Amino acid sequence: MLRILEAVPAATGLGIDLNEEDTARGRENAEARAPAERVEFVRGSAAEGGARGPADLVLCLGASHALSDARPPQHTVDALQALRRMVAPGGRVLLGETFWQRSPTSAELAAMWPGARADELHDLAGLVDLAVSAGFRPAWVETAGSEEWEEFESGYHADVEEWLATQRDPPLANETRERVDRHRTSWLRGYREVLGLAYLTLIPVD
Ligand SMILES: C[S@@+](CC[C@H](N)C(=O)[O-])C[C@H]1O[C@@H](n2cnc3c(N)ncnc32)[C@H](O)[C@@H]1O
Repeated sequence: MLRILEAVPAATGLGIDLNEEDTARGRENAEARAPAERVEFVRGSAAEGGARGPADLVLCLGASHALSDARPPQHTVDALQALRRMVAPGGRVLLGETFWQRSPTSAELAAMWPGARADELHDLAGLVDLAVSAGFRPAWVETAGSEEWEEFESGYHADVEEWLATQRDPPLANETRERVDRHRTSWLRGYREVLGLAYLTLIPVD
C-alpha cells in the first residue's frame, strides 16, 4: 500500500489488521513515506474495509482468511465474493493467494502444518477460475518464484536465528528454537516448491 501511495500522490490508503503490532509497524513505516493525512492504519476486522464503502484498489495479500470463516478452500470463494463487493466499478483487486504448484505427497502433507489436506487449495488454473466465477476478469496473473519464497522464509528464520545466537536464557531460547525448527521442517520437508503464491490483478465485471 505504501508503494502505491508513493506512486500515486493523490491516493489515500487504509490498512486494516486485527494485530495491533502490525498496524503499529505499518504506521511507523508510513511516517517516512506518505503524509499522515493520506494514510490510516486501523486495528480491526477486514470486514470494516467494506463498511467504509468501495475502494478503487483493494489489496488482499496472504489474508483471504480474514474475509471468511469457512474451511479452505471455500474461504477463497467467500473472500473473492467479499472483494467483489469492496471494489468500486472500474477499480482493481490485487489478491495474493496460495495454490498447489503440484499435488502434495502424503509425506509432504504430514510435514506441512497440522491437518494439511490435498483438497484445501486449488491449482493455479482452478484459482483463476474461481475469480472469474466471482465476477472478475484476470488482468494479470503472476506467481512468486523460488527466489522470492527463499528470501521470505530465510528472512523470517534469520531474524529468529540472530536473536537465538544472543540468548543466554535456556528455557526461552529452547522454546523458540523448537518453534523455528518446526517451521523450518514444515518448509523444507513440506511445502517448499509445492505451495505456490499467486498474485492476481482482477478487474470487476458485471
Ligand atoms: C499472512 S499475514 C499477511 C499480512 C499482510 N497482508 C502482508 O502482506 O504482509 C495475515 C494477516 O491477517 C491478519 N488477520 C487475520 N484475520 C483477520 C481479520 N479478520 N481481519 C483483519 N486482519 C486479519 C493477521 O493478523 C495477519 O497479520
